[in-house]
Amino acid sequence: MIRPATPGDLAGIMALEHASFPTDAWSEAMLREELASRHGWYVVDELGGRLVGYAGLRAVRGSKDADVQTITIAEHARGRGRGRALLGALLDEAARRGVRDVFLEVRADNPVAQALYTSEGFLEIGRRPRYYQPDDVDAVVMQLDLAGRAARDAAADAGVCS
Ligand SMILES: CC(C)(COP(=O)(O)OP(=O)(O)OC[C@H]1O[C@@H](n2cnc3c(N)ncnc32)[C@H](O)[C@@H]1OP(=O)(O)O)[C@@H](O)C(=O)NCCC(=O)NCCS
Repeated sequence: MIRPATPGDLAGIMALEHASFPTDAWSEAMLREELASRHGWYVVDELGGRLVGYAGLRAVRGSKDADVQTITIAEHARGRGRGRALLGALLDEAARRGVRDVFLEVRADNPVAQALYTSEGFLEIGRRPRYYQPDDVDAVVMQLDLAGRAARDAAADAGVCS
């Protein structure tokens, strides 16, 4: 079940953060700030009363741009559509906020996340060499045209091929 994150979720989020991003986890202070920000929107995914995922969007009020800040699913719960559902929740919120373009950075050595983003319509628009430290891994910068996504979804619902 996906629901908005609350400050009470911070401990569970931190546990997932360290498990999923062992070399470059965000600090508790950073995530506390993210959860409290009016420009952010974080969701958690619960399974059997336990936190198995979370994701965050940054969409500054009044801006046409937004960023996917983070997304992760606990290892044991991956591969069953939960990551896609979390990403969908972020994109739906971005649309509600009137966002036109959504951006994100993903590690160049993370083909699973890249496949998820590509399948949702994100396109690679650049690379940031050695962005992830201390691992020395490039970032792939991706962009999604949210209006284009909505049009594609509407066409798919109507059974129109493109
Ligand atoms: C990336 C992540 C969130 C995906 O979550 P998930 O629940 O496993 O993914 P889903 O089951 O929703 O699958 C969505 C798509 O991801 C891709 N994918 C998922 N597992 C995959 C695998 N083992 N190999 C290749 N592609 C895979 C596929 O494109 C899949 O779509 P499909 O099922 O239609 O083929 C998850 O793997 C994760 O938490 N990874 C560690 C943290 C991380 O890398 N976060 C991204 C930071 S940018």
